[in-house]
Amino acid sequence: MTFTEILNRRRSIRRFTSQKIDRNLIDRLLKAAFTAPSSKNTRSTRFMVVENPDLLARIAEMRDFGSAFVKDAPLAIVVLGDTSATDLWVDNCAISATILQLAAVDEGLGSCWVHVNGRPRKREEPDGETATEWLREILPIPENWQPLCVIALGYPDGEIKPHSEKNDLEQVIRL
Ligand SMILES: Cc1cc2nc3c(=O)[nH]c(=O)nc-3n(C[C@H](O)[C@H](O)[C@H](O)COP(=O)(O)O)c2cc1C
Repeated sequence: MTFTEILNRRRSIRRFTSQKIDRNLIDRLLKAAFTAPSSKNTRSTRFMVVENPDLLARIAEMRDFGSAFVKDAPLAIVVLGDTSATDLWVDNCAISATILQLAAVDEGLGSCWVHVNGRPRKREEPDGETATEWLREILPIPENWQPLCVIALGYPDGEIKPHSEKNDLEQVIRL
């Protein structure tokens, strides 16, 4: 697939078939994500690979909005940053997660970013328990690692069309 095809095909996929993802393929995705640039080459991004259905169901409960579909994904990769390595761990994680999602397209997979950092578990309780606190309860996350997001992955169940051409270039200031 050309890079342009990958970019055009990438859509957020939230419905997956039950087909498992080969271990070697998962490793290729992780290796792709590790190619990400990072501030001062701190390489602060870490990953947690979750295939256990019980854990996937618990991850899905991390928020009462926008994360339920993780329960039916065959794979979730938690993207975390080592906060002791850099203050720019969020930025580094975001780049790594994006490359992971693009690599997934190249492998015929679909994926969706599910946000963690700064989100409450319950939409109506913005100051209540956070999604991060919940993940720390259910996953063995080292103290100095902070989750930015979970990338849900699997073989797409159905097609989502590429975005139609928009007038994005109108958002650009040329000097
Ligand atoms: C920072 C960020 C946070 C997101 N959080 C969620 C989320 O919590 N749940 C979800 O279903 N989708 C989430 N998404 C996916 C967006 O909803 C999606 O990218 C957007 O609607 C555009 O659709 P597309 O990815 O198909 O182009 C997130 C995407 C980004 C980049």
